[in-house]
Amino acid sequence: MGIVKAAHLIYDYITRDDETGVETASRAIDDVDLDIAAGDFIAILGHNGSGKSTLAKHMNALLLPTGGGIWIKNMDTRDESSIWDIRQTAGMVFQNPDNQIIGSIVEEDVGFGPENMGVPTDEIWKRVNDSLSAVGMTEYREHSPNKLSGGQKQRVAIAGVMAMHPECIVLDEPTAMLDPNGRKEVLKTVRRLNKTSGVTVILITHYMDEVIHADKVFVMDDGKIVMEGTPREIFSQVEKLKELRLDVPQVTELAYELKLKGVPLPDGILTIDEFVQALKQVKMPKGADPVSGAPGKNGNLAHTQKKDGDAYVDQT
Ligand SMILES: Nc1ncnc2c1ncn2[C@@H]1O[C@H](COP(=O)(O)OP(=O)(O)OP(=O)(O)O)[C@@H](O)[C@H]1O
Ligand SMILES: [Mg+2]
Repeated sequence: MGIVKAAHLIYDYITRDDETGVETASRAIDDVDLDIAAGDFIAILGHNGSGKSTLAKHMNALLLPTGGGIWIKNMDTRDESSIWDIRQTAGMVFQNPDNQIIGSIVEEDVGFGPENMGVPTDEIWKRVNDSLSAVGMTEYREHSPNKLSGGQKQRVAIAGVMAMHPECIVLDEPTAMLDPNGRKEVLKTVRRLNKTSGVTVILITHYMDEVIHADKVFVMDDGKIVMEGTPREIFSQVEKLKELRLDVPQVTELAYELKLKGVPLPDGILTIDEFVQALKQVKMPKGADPVSGAPGKNGNLAHTQKKDGDAYVDQT
């Protein structure tokens, strides 16, 4: 059993009309099954309101199931006595770094979590050092968080979670409020934590380019998980993603459009590097027009069609 497992998970938000007192339930999570292996980098995609944040809050027992169940390292989130162990196992990082930083100095802020957990002082300092170093913020340890950029603040927030030694970190659109540089910094940090410290990462994002390095992608729609697979498997299904009102990475879209025009490219190209390599291997028949896709007089484009999914993955 994986580090996060959900079975037939259901969650209804109950809203009450102040005038009539009538309560209505709206289903935000609708029969979700999930099994996430320890050490994986998972991405969750989905249109606004599809239930991503509601699902994330279940991973940290901030919300409890209306039906079915969710287990974090075999601990049932409905078991009150496990709540602190669950929150220590699965740390959460939210969208707005300003709401997550409480200390007036960076190192204080990072030490706050372990201090609250009753970790001995020496060990707290060790964890603060290690966590700041893991997110590349050691040189800012004595700075005031207010003066940091959005990306730096978010890295401090991640260090604060890391200092609690979670086995799993759930990030709900951690880059949504950041500029492109901040986004890059945070994503690099998260990938490094996953690769070098083996922390399970569950990343909720609207940015398709943040998804391409995930081990596995889940796509949500209307409270359900409607697609599940590797980034390549997911992004090979451009039409389906469009139906779900989702984008694909720009380069995937370009390759897809070219393929529609008859250029024999594999499905699910994820990086510019792959795209260039795949283009280099395209053998257009003499006289063929790569834009209109009209075959040349010597042959049919289909003969040069590469097998789907052949392109190699850029692991940088
Ligand atoms: N506190 C709440 N009370 C009532 N309904 C809610 C509440 N929070 C969310 N919802 C509803 O539950 C559904 C799922 O919302 P959720 O925030 O989980 O979606 P999301 O995928 O995270 O969306 P976004 O991409 O906008 O962050 C939506 O229909 C939303 O309107
Ligand atoms: Mg959300």
